Amino acid sequence: MKVLLIGSGGREHALAQALVRDPQLEELHVAPGNPGIAQIATLHALDIENNQEVVALAQRLTVDLVVIGPEKPLVNGVADALRAVGIATFGPSAIAATLEGSKDFAKQVMRDAGVPTARSFTCTTKAEMEKALDTFGAPYVVKHDGLAAGKGVVVTSDRQVALDHAYLSPRVVIEEFLDGPEVSLFGISDGSTILAMQPAQDFKRAYDGDLGPNTGGMGAYSPLPWAPTDIVEMTLTQVLKPTIAEMQARDTPFIGLLYAGLVLTSKGLRVIEFNARFGDPETQVLLPRLQTPLATLLYQAATGGLAGHPPLEWSTDSAVTVVLASDGYPVSPRLGDPITGVDSVVGADIYQAGTTLKDQVLHSSGGRVLSVTGVAADLTAARLKAYEGISQISLRGSHYRRDIALAASAPTEVGEN
Ligand code: AMP
Ligand code: GLY
Repeated sequence: MKVLLIGSGGREHALAQALVRDPQLEELHVAPGNPGIAQIATLHALDIENNQEVVALAQRLTVDLVVIGPEKPLVNGVADALRAVGIATFGPSAIAATLEGSKDFAKQVMRDAGVPTARSFTCTTKAEMEKALDTFGAPYVVKHDGLAAGKGVVVTSDRQVALDHAYLSPRVVIEEFLDGPEVSLFGISDGSTILAMQPAQDFKRAYDGDLGPNTGGMGAYSPLPWAPTDIVEMTLTQVLKPTIAEMQARDTPFIGLLYAGLVLTSKGLRVIEFNARFGDPETQVLLPRLQTPLATLLYQAATGGLAGHPPLEWSTDSAVTVVLASDGYPVSPRLGDPITGVDSVVGADIYQAGTTLKDQVLHSSGGRVLSVTGVAADLTAARLKAYEGISQISLRGSHYRRDIALAASAPTEVGEN
């Protein structure tokens, strides 16, 4: 099988690593990729937001499958453009990707599908916004309706801060605050059948102790020893299956990865967000544990072939990933500094993201530079490997969290975040 993977982050590096492990894979092409991915795949320069360029590359390479990593091309309709010329594609249509692209659309689908989520109001006027905030009270949760690269959500007890954030967007979703640990749980869907992956937990705040600004994600681990044993089954029954059925009933089937961001409240699980693609950095802890061959699985999903598929197979190992962020991330990341020590890391896997080669030397080129994943028999040993690995790497001014999976690896802890 020949596969073209679109994207250039740590998520795509982990996807590439898992794709090449599949014995059915013959060729892996990645566009645009990064220097880490270049070691295991053929890279192609590409404007991934230009659908016609993506289609032309896939046709020129005569690939059997295109896998779309990031959300923006999906919301732009790249999967529609590829399917229109008969290319099997893992990634939802523009309409189905609206589950990520519009918080209001996601709420409508959840309401129609009976999926548990926070009560909410969609507001377009200042009066509606104020009324919604006062209906739920503090802490206030205000979400801009459209794609916002992690900057659209504010959770605050300050009514004025909540209002100021609401006024920045012509349409906002204001919802009740949900209390409890957060879980990311993904399903792989062919449009009518969905297979659940294992749960992971992401650390969204920049600094230790969940302090500082929101980020794209500073680390993750899987599995979650503290989570209810039936969490996968519960999410499948209450969230993933009804959502896929609702999208199919609307004649806009969701083919790709459905990312459910959940809060486990005292009253049961609730969805706080959907994404239409693999999570980053959750993918860097899930795929190293996945034993089902990935290229074959994504091809089956892209071609309507998941009915009757057995549940996904997982190693019993634990995985922890720690993100190395550049100086100033997430507010004003400084780029262009040399990175040393990557080649001396042993016993842990490095997934590159914001990296580039300058005169054959690796340099930083993004806010999240790379992540280091440790895999071992338990979380304590996995985090040790990840932290030993990341301590070998030097990048001026860079920072990483020291508490990824810390509470979960201590024997008495229940959830975090
Ligand atoms: P989202 O982009 O919707 O995942 O929101 C970003 C972060 O805001 C989440 O990871 C949560 O930590 C927080 N958040 C979002 N919605 C809620 C909510 N209803 N209650 C509490 N926290 C929330
Ligand atoms: N880790 C959060 C996300 O991928 O959206």
